[in-house]
Amino acid sequence: MNDSEIQSIKARFGIIGNSPLLNHAIEVASQVAPTDMTVLISGESGSGKESFSKIIHHLSPRKHGKFIAINCGAIPEGTIDSELFGHEKGSFTGAHESRKGYFEVTNGGTIFLDEIGEMPLATQARLLRVLEYGEFIKVGSSKVQKTDVRVVAATNVNLLDSVENGKFRQDLYYRLNTVPIYVPPLRERGADIELLFRKFAADFSEKYKVKPLSLTENAKIALSKYRFPGNIRQLKNLVEQISVLEMEREINTDKILKYLPADSNYLPALYRQNQQEDKAGLSERDLLYKILFDMRKDVNDLKKLVHNMINEDIIDRDGIDSALMESYRNAAESTSGKENLPAPYVLKNPEPDYDFDNIEDISHETERDESLSIEAKEKELIIKALRKNNNRRKYAAKDLGISERTLYRKIKQFEIDD
Ligand SMILES: Nc1ncnc2c1ncn2[C@@H]1O[C@H](COP(=O)(O)OP(=O)(O)OP(=O)(O)O)[C@@H](O)[C@H]1O
Ligand SMILES: [Mg+2]
Repeated sequence: MNDSEIQSIKARFGIIGNSPLLNHAIEVASQVAPTDMTVLISGESGSGKESFSKIIHHLSPRKHGKFIAINCGAIPEGTIDSELFGHEKGSFTGAHESRKGYFEVTNGGTIFLDEIGEMPLATQARLLRVLEYGEFIKVGSSKVQKTDVRVVAATNVNLLDSVENGKFRQDLYYRLNTVPIYVPPLRERGADIELLFRKFAADFSEKYKVKPLSLTENAKIALSKYRFPGNIRQLKNLVEQISVLEMEREINTDKILKYLPADSNYLPALYRQNQQEDKAGLSERDLLYKILFDMRKDVNDLKKLVHNMINEDIIDRDGIDSALMESYRNAAESTSGKENLPAPYVLKNPEPDYDFDNIEDISHETERDESLSIEAKEKELIIKALRKNNNRRKYAAKDLGISERTLYRKIKQFEIDD
């Protein structure tokens, strides 16, 4: 496929950008379009997957047939089967009339199943049957019907993970993934960021009757370095906001940074992005991230402080241990019947396993303290067991669940006199 063909597809479908990854995705889409193959489009939220489903439909022999886009994540689990495959009159409460589903009305056309990962397992079974045999059954019916629909699906989650977690059928995954198309995230599209900025600036200048925005050279660099977790959708929102809110039409680095939320690079997504976020921007999530960052910093500072206080003998370590023991005992009493856990080891649990960027490593210290208290506890237990059994080692060893030989060794090691 030559470059001018790719460019004409972009012009026709309003796709802006020229990065190699984007061009490759367009090329695959246009090559697979004329076939009847099932296509799975994957890519992060807001990366522009929807246009690809349109390319595939409009460049196929089905272009005069219907094209329906369905967001599987937006239809309640209870009604999705009936929406997709229809239902018979009286098949459930409220089904006063029989109804045709999308797979029936789109016969001869294309169905775009967005957020396919959200489809319930029972619906996945029905979908697999349509894909394999072109057959489906309305809800509440026993009559097998035929339909000829091409399926294009999209996902912004890794479907293989969903297969692992038992949320997505493996056979359906392989069936859908006959031809995969990967839509790259904005941050991997280099100069496209600037091109898109300009395009949106022009669009919003027209919409709001304002002068179009432009960027200083440094602002362009700042923008190109940003991670854009919300991809093109986020960039579009950002340009819209700035277009309306800023008087000065040339945007410098300070200004642009004001509109780029803190990078949430290494924290997991708290929830799936949705249409509301499209409008509200990412502010709520970013606020949460900021709170988390601040809390982490506070916790680390506190740890460092306590550690130093212990080192400088400002806090009495034994005092801490007995206080902790006391609170553990109280907790243990109030949950009687539960298995007794060895108190100090629970309470003196070392660090949670994230890294402490600039905090000095105190883990060795903690480890040594811990082993000391284990030894002390062990010694105490051995003495108790010996006393209980009137110093008869055989029975004491039995109580302790160790061999007599080990007990003998430990008595020597801890210098216990019996
Ligand atoms: N190449 C592009 N040029 C111009 N606008 C684009 C381009 N790609 C996407 N957009 C715009 O970006 C927004 C997000 O695109 P789209 O809805 O296709 O994302 P998506 O990948 O389907 O995201 P989600 O997984 O959240 O559904 C839309 O407003 C769309 O019009
Ligand atoms: Mg979408």
